[in-house]
Amino acid sequence: MTDYKNPNLILETAKVEPGEITWRSPANLAIVKYWGKHGVQMPKNPSLSLTLSSSFTETLLEYRPRETSESGISLEFFFHQESNEPFRERLLKYLESVADIFPFLRQLDLTIYSGNSFPHSAGIASSASAMSALALCLTSLEHELFETLDDDAAFDQKASYVARLGSGSACRSIFPKAALWGEMGEVKGSSDLFAVPMAEHVHAVFANMHDDILLASTSVKHISSRAGHGLMETHPFAEARYADAKRNLSRLIPALRSGDLEEFGRIAENEALTLHGLMMSSNPSYVLLKPNTLEMIERLRHYRQETKHPVYFSLDAGPNLHLLYPANIIHEVRGFIEDELKPLCEDESYLEDWAGDGPVQV
Ligand code: PMV
Repeated sequence: MTDYKNPNLILETAKVEPGEITWRSPANLAIVKYWGKHGVQMPKNPSLSLTLSSSFTETLLEYRPRETSESGISLEFFFHQESNEPFRERLLKYLESVADIFPFLRQLDLTIYSGNSFPHSAGIASSASAMSALALCLTSLEHELFETLDDDAAFDQKASYVARLGSGSACRSIFPKAALWGEMGEVKGSSDLFAVPMAEHVHAVFANMHDDILLASTSVKHISSRAGHGLMETHPFAEARYADAKRNLSRLIPALRSGDLEEFGRIAENEALTLHGLMMSSNPSYVLLKPNTLEMIERLRHYRQETKHPVYFSLDAGPNLHLLYPANIIHEVRGFIEDELKPLCEDESYLEDWAGDGPVQV
């Protein structure tokens, strides 16, 4: 398998016109979670996510032939139109780490403008949308300058590989509806290095699934996902967890195919609570759930028992509750949200999202 390093991608800078590339890329919600990694952003277990739609990052990459001859990458960065030094430093480190894949980056002056449609760093997978949007810009830039990636599948695979190096979960955002990341015998072509598309293996009920995100709190998390993955290295339950994730995935894939909502929901909730259970039982331990998250879970389970509606929850690495349900019960579920869950949310707010068609070049 290629590592995509390519020393031949060098420009004749005198011939390069300044230009710009924009991608809008969505967040994703893992149903089977990636939690624990090794090597260079390789997952300890395979994971599967639904690609979202209204929670996205839009990134504009401007490039022009470099004016100075300094050695590092030249980058200016603006987040929501304001220069942001901590983000710029993170991105610079990332760009340096992919400079063997895209050596022409050192020959350009780069300016990146980025913005999210949702609050960042609050456990709404902002790194997945941000890093996938940037990876798509870089991959497009390669194609624009060298015409190397005419084949769509090859383009997506490279973008997914490059996104993974920025944030593991970002590699899954490249594909519409659903994606699998991590080698798994049952799925041909699956890999630890990039995600593969799963839309073809997903019943219509999931391809149009809603995911409303109830904002229990949008405060910036005090523990990053990076630290959380790190704590899995010494976690006493780690091996059992990786085996459990594989079992859950082996059950989820046939459920996605057949449209088995109940099995889907059981797995989604088990995975969400397992993720937070792992955080709570790490050393040091930490808790990202809030009292209102737990109250919402209780109300949801009560509502499900009373109405028999197939509404389930998931959680990302944060306190916000993702409500998953099929499109045909939207009116009933929105009524329940308005009456019972919204009052528990921070500023009574929630985001309406759903399984989407993947990134778009703008
Ligand atoms: O991609 P990272 O390193 O931010 O890890 C994200 C991990 C979870 O969002 C908690 C789970 C997942 O698979 O997306």
